[in-house]
Amino acid sequence: MIVTEVKEKKTWLLTLFVLLFAIAGTAFAADDDALIKRALQVLGPLPASMPSEENPITPEKVRLGKILFYEPRISLDGTVSCSKCHPIALYAADGLRKSVGHNCTENPRNDPTVFNAAGQISEHWIGNRTSVEDQAKQAVIGPPSFGMPSYESVEKVLRAYKQYELLFKAAFPLDKEPATIDNFAKAIGAFERTLITPAPLDAFLKGNKDALTAQQKSGLGTFIDRGCVGCHFGPFIGGQMYQKFGIFEPYQKYTKSEKVDEGRFAVTKNETDRYVFKVPVLRNVAMTSPYFHDGSVDKLEEAVWIMGKIQLGKDLPKEQVQDIVAFLHALTGKIPEDAMTVPLLPSLQ
Ligand code: HEC
Ligand code: HEC
Repeated sequence: MIVTEVKEKKTWLLTLFVLLFAIAGTAFAADDDALIKRALQVLGPLPASMPSEENPITPEKVRLGKILFYEPRISLDGTVSCSKCHPIALYAADGLRKSVGHNCTENPRNDPTVFNAAGQISEHWIGNRTSVEDQAKQAVIGPPSFGMPSYESVEKVLRAYKQYELLFKAAFPLDKEPATIDNFAKAIGAFERTLITPAPLDAFLKGNKDALTAQQKSGLGTFIDRGCVGCHFGPFIGGQMYQKFGIFEPYQKYTKSEKVDEGRFAVTKNETDRYVFKVPVLRNVAMTSPYFHDGSVDKLEEAVWIMGKIQLGKDLPKEQVQDIVAFLHALTGKIPEDAMTVPLLPSLQ
């Protein structure tokens, strides 16, 4: 008699637990659905490609562009290639505060990754390059990077290699003289337009509720609620607008920058553009320390706290900062397989 009573109690308790778990489970699932819905209003999964009307992507252009990305012989001292400052192994950023070009010349700013870069309104921190093609073209004569004296001098180097002539011909079959600086820029641009890195966030937004950890989900909610998405929005989580860096307090106070950078003022000479920078893409941000245009901050925790303080006027509590950082880790994406292999470069012989 007593035995059956205990048994009944056990079954009853078990049913209660199962019911509770089921209710909690549905509640979590409903929470996830609501979070996905909210996130889709301000963020969004990465597109499958970053096309350009002026520069349609073809396999031949991408192949040539990838080779040119590794080419150092088009620099003043023969040591500088795109991959020197954007090494794929470091998520296409160089890990330095300020990049170093030919003859050890220091660049004025930190280098952002080229992954997903083609999806932005413009290129560079102050938006002084209109597209990835424009960026690639101007880089070769940039005094702190390749340092070449003229576009003609770059074309001369390329034309000295028979294999480049053939690769350019294959990529631009309608051109009489295909090895030009504009086609150089188009080929590299086409390669960059393939550098898309889908991340756990994309899987989550497409309905895979296990793609993010509980802390990352909480961080995503905080990222939306606290207003980060006011500037870092869209599928690239940034790259779509310019904003003053230091709205509530001057950025120099927190970044310990030794030199004041006036930002977009240098481009427009407009007073309202002083200290204005492009809102950076946050995809792969956990892999591309140090942070900010001056590379002055090493830790993502610190960068996030500074953002709250000077962009939103909020002193974010430690727990919220940690949750946001966990979420930012969910933006680390998969590097396309083709980009993970190193190409062989043409020989003069
Ligand atoms: C000497 C190092 C160096 C070399 C070489 C170099 N870059 Fe960069 N790259 C930088 C720096 C520094 C920036 C940021 C410049 C700025 O905003 O003022 C940058 C910015 C960029 C951006 C803009 C990213 C964004 O989010 O705004 C792209 C795209 C890019 N580089 C691609 C290339 C390509 C393609 C090449 C080769 C043709 C190249 N870079 C060569 C250092 C370098
Ligand atoms: C008012 C616009 C605005 C808001 C709001 C904002 N940001 Fe930013 N964020 C920027 C700008 C502009 C920069 C570039 C600063 C610079 O020049 O270095 C930036 C840079 C960053 C960086 C450094 C990226 C890198 O590659 O160096 C991180 C990380 C970041 N923001 C995260 C956040 C987080 C997290 C929040 C919310 C707590 C937030 N931001 C809110 C505009 C904003």
